[in-house]
Amino acid sequence: MLAGIVSRVAEYTNISLARGAPSLDIIAVDDLSAAARSAFERDPAGTFAYGTSAGYPHLLEWIAAKHEVEPARVIATNGSMQADAFLFQWLVEPGDLVVVEAPTYDRTLLSLRELGADILAIPLEADGIDVDALEVALGEGARPKLAHIIPNFQNPAGCTLSLEKRQKLLALAREHGFTIFEDDPYVELRFEGESLPTMLSMDSADTVVYASSFSKTVCPGIRVGYLVGPGDLIGGIRKVATNTYISPNMVAQSIVAEFCHSGAIERSIETVKAALRERRDATAEALERHIPDARFVSPQGGYFLWVDLPEGSDVAALETASQERGVVFVKGTDFLIEGGESSLRIAYSGVPPDQIEEGIARVADAYRELAGAAA
Ligand SMILES: Cc1ncc(COP(=O)(O)O)c(C=O)c1O
Repeated sequence: MLAGIVSRVAEYTNISLARGAPSLDIIAVDDLSAAARSAFERDPAGTFAYGTSAGYPHLLEWIAAKHEVEPARVIATNGSMQADAFLFQWLVEPGDLVVVEAPTYDRTLLSLRELGADILAIPLEADGIDVDALEVALGEGARPKLAHIIPNFQNPAGCTLSLEKRQKLLALAREHGFTIFEDDPYVELRFEGESLPTMLSMDSADTVVYASSFSKTVCPGIRVGYLVGPGDLIGGIRKVATNTYISPNMVAQSIVAEFCHSGAIERSIETVKAALRERRDATAEALERHIPDARFVSPQGGYFLWVDLPEGSDVAALETASQERGVVFVKGTDFLIEGGESSLRIAYSGVPPDQIEEGIARVADAYRELAGAAA
């Protein structure tokens, strides 16, 4: 009893607006248990064996049908993070130029740096990467091998790439001979506005390699993601995967296959989207009420909202002062090669609306204190 009270107080006291992960209450635990039972009974031989590096066949079929491609163009991996790593390992050599969005997913920057890539960071606008700036850079002689693009509800900025920019990017990739890496884990989480076609579905020249994940539609702990791309590239990556781990986690993939084929995934997505919409609204309202100086683009889906504070605001100091008040977020500089000192990312995915309100009120308190000290 006492332990329960203490842990509820602790949960209330520490509020994380930092982690891009769902809270437990929006994970379909009962449907996952049913999917596991059914996977174990339906196909014990396939579920409990090593399998091949391509992934669990019944899941590959589902993914291939969803994207209207042959299963030979798919590899299912341990999370899409692993898919990203395989793709970078296969394509990127030291000194290769890779285009990224600015800001972008911090782990992409880390992986590319580790591989010795040269990074060309192109600014992000409210409707996605600034394709005109990319065109200028290409015109001035930039020769990228790859462009990493997070098209929907971008991590960390929450914005979505417009249809016109998708078309323009494909045209630039064809003209200048680079591959578009469409990293799309949030695509199913649109709770407002019209869905846009993937660049994969618009591509007729094998220009796009597409990644997505079940972390946001099933749960992150299951660690299942995938790549879809040209058959020869996927064939090469399957070889890298064999040498890395023989096969990915067949138990997890068999459960996800069951979850998808049974229709449980559709229910799960609806639950997640309804919660995210409420949490996005709570975040936007709390920011408007408590930090009127904050500027942000309200996302139409996904997990994240990017906040710009007035120029000169010291978000590193705000991070420390907020931590002292039991609230964490990620500072803008983590997602950029340079700049971002007065920006932050708020992840609203893992926190119920009342805690979002409380968390942002505490950040606002820290912000006022720092502004007072600077005055
Ligand atoms: C843009 C992007 N790509 C890839 C990933 C990795 O996802 P996972 O490995 O859980 O599938 C994430 C996770 O937050 C992400 O935001």
